[in-house]
Amino acid sequence: MFRGKTRWMTTVLILEIFIFMAGPVHAAETGEQIFARICKVCHTIGQGKLVGPDLAGVSKRYDPEWIIPFVQSSQTVIKSGDAVAVARFEEFNKLIMPDNPVSRSEVLSIIAYIETTAGDPMSGDEVRPTPLDTATDDDLALGGSLFQGTTRLAGGGPACNTCHHVHQKGIMGGGILAKDLTKVVTRMGAPGVQAILGSPPFPVMQQAYTNHDLTEDEIFALTAFLQKLDQDQEKETYSTYGAQIFSMGTFGAMLLMVLYAMIWMKRKKKRVYGAIHDRQIKST
Ligand code: HEC
Ligand code: HEC
Repeated sequence: MFRGKTRWMTTVLILEIFIFMAGPVHAAETGEQIFARICKVCHTIGQGKLVGPDLAGVSKRYDPEWIIPFVQSSQTVIKSGDAVAVARFEEFNKLIMPDNPVSRSEVLSIIAYIETTAGDPMSGDEVRPTPLDTATDDDLALGGSLFQGTTRLAGGGPACNTCHHVHQKGIMGGGILAKDLTKVVTRMGAPGVQAILGSPPFPVMQQAYTNHDLTEDEIFALTAFLQKLDQDQEKETYSTYGAQIFSMGTFGAMLLMVLYAMIWMKRKKKRVYGAIHDRQIKST
């Protein structure tokens, strides 16, 4: 009886393994389809850096035997100490490329697709417009209030400042669990930020927004807000800010001095009873 039960459990286990393995494999998907489904949020082919590097010519840069394990689990390769992978990771601000549930042959078909696409720089989507170009004041205000949670996210996820901080007057101080986002658009570009908000590759953030997806409009507003913040920061350096306060202070002080002088001009310059005293002196 015990043996029977064990065998039964083993069968279920094997079945489960098969189901698990079959899960992520989308039967007969082409390299192009897999690329569009998983890789495209972070990579372009021949249109420049997005979140990750442009993949045009990737098979000329690396051997397929390097690419395959890297695409499947880049962090495993990086943690093994592979010098090329570590350098690339540093170069991309330690942005983690999440593990991808793709088989050997699927990676090879993605590589083949990249090779046929790379020759034609116009084959991908058009370059996405940066949010700020079309963002209105309302979008920027929405982005700011979504960031600090004064407007709730439609999907019910936590406000960004639960974990992140930005430097801006009027924005509530945020958490320190994750990176300061004041200069994030400089670090990774607006399309990169958009891509990250669409499918966060960081485990903590992923967990926070699983089943609480941000909407397209929210992503747009948040990215526009962060981009504006980043640009304003460049204009408004701390030294000119300081100089402004100093000159405004000096001007204010001078204004007050003139004002006081005018008010005090009418003050009584002599003793109150001076006039009476003088009169009495005269009459005696
Ligand atoms: C969430 C963003 C993201 C996704 C999704 C993603 N990548 Fe990446 N990828 C990166 C980043 C960031 C790097 C830079 C290296 C690093 O940070 O580890 C990278 C690096 C690479 C590299 C090394 C290229 C080089 O020039 O050094 C290859 C190859 C690659 N990715 C292929 C893929 C493929 C194929 C997919 C889809 C199956 C994919 N990536 C999905 C972010 C991503
Ligand atoms: C539960 C915590 C948490 C919340 C909430 C959260 N994030 Fe993150 N976020 C992280 C962590 C952790 C990282 C990984 C990098 C780090 O350590 O800062 C990250 C990374 C990022 C990055 C990449 C930063 C970089 O320079 O590498 C961006 C952009 C970002 N978050 C934007 C947002 C926005 C916008 C929101 C609100 C919609 C948000 N995050 C909400 C935890 C969070």
